[in-house]
Amino acid sequence: MEKKNIDWSNLGFGYVPTDYRFVANYKNGAWEEGGLTTDATVTISECAGVLQYAQTCFEGMKAYTTEDGRTVIFRPDLNAARMADSCRRLEMPVFPEDKFVDAVVKVVEANEAYVPPYGSGATLYIRPYMFGSDAVIGVKPASEYQFRVFATPVGPYFKGGAKPITIRVSDYDRAAPHGTGHIKAGLNYAMSLYPIMEAHREGFAENMYLDAATRTKVEETGGANFIFVTRDNKVVTPKSNSILPSITRRSLIYVAKEYLGLEVEEREVYFDEVKDFAECGLCGTAAVISPVGKINDHGKEICFPSRMEEMGPVITKLRETLTGIQMGHIKAPEGWIKVV
Ligand code: PLP
Ligand code: COI
Repeated sequence: MEKKNIDWSNLGFGYVPTDYRFVANYKNGAWEEGGLTTDATVTISECAGVLQYAQTCFEGMKAYTTEDGRTVIFRPDLNAARMADSCRRLEMPVFPEDKFVDAVVKVVEANEAYVPPYGSGATLYIRPYMFGSDAVIGVKPASEYQFRVFATPVGPYFKGGAKPITIRVSDYDRAAPHGTGHIKAGLNYAMSLYPIMEAHREGFAENMYLDAATRTKVEETGGANFIFVTRDNKVVTPKSNSILPSITRRSLIYVAKEYLGLEVEEREVYFDEVKDFAECGLCGTAAVISPVGKINDHGKEICFPSRMEEMGPVITKLRETLTGIQMGHIKAPEGWIKVV
């Protein structure tokens, strides 16, 4: 397969249109079969549910070129299941999980020329999403929906790639205790725009959100979960009903236990404990696992012993093992890799 002439190594995390995307419509209580299109434009009612009441959710996963030249997708079945959860919480019809995976495979296959080459540092980011497409003016679910999947080649989510970032403790809340923090609803990201821009204006890469009820426990950032490492090499990651159940995190927990023989604790993490950890990272599809060097708590700094120059040793190992599995030079657990 001839690849597109793209400067892969210098890609940022941005939208580059590719040739094909998948579209399926839901109407009269049923999903149509759907298929690929070259049309990147969506046309909907001015009163569409998504435009008026933000009835939309999405997913994110990646395709890679392995060392031996195969194109693979990382755990798309888990994205299908999470999207189904998001849809149920937003009163949207579930796009069948097997068909979700088929649609993702079709989009990657059709855009094979955009799957970055092995070793380029770039990947193909896949974005499935769904929205209420017909008119609603009273507050209620739409009756028609569109499910789409597009793909776009991306580089690192944080500028500087694997260099530690500085984040701040946010005074804003991301999710209410019994709200929508655990699903991938567009509305969770709309409310994070003001806090993230404010963080950037003040020189921070991301926000650390605390639990809204007590503001004593670590939740997550706007787009990734936290992973901490204790001084005796235990991996600790926050448990909460109001954070997104990260597929990267679930994978890293397995990698830590089964590949690296590390102890893992998934539990409530109090902000007061954070100063005692040896390493801190943000994990997610886009972030992979990005090291945090410093956390600013209203002017007070927590500086991790791993410092600002490079990743700490455990996070480095976790990252190398996970990306090794994704890129095909470390044997993957059964079912993690979908070959296109
Ligand atoms: N938390 C939030 C708020 C996210 O947007 C994401 C990104 O998808 C994650 C965590 C990481 O989830 P995953 O590893 O499934 O990409
Ligand atoms: C992802 O990691 O897939 C996400 O959706 C995070 C987003 C903030 C880019």
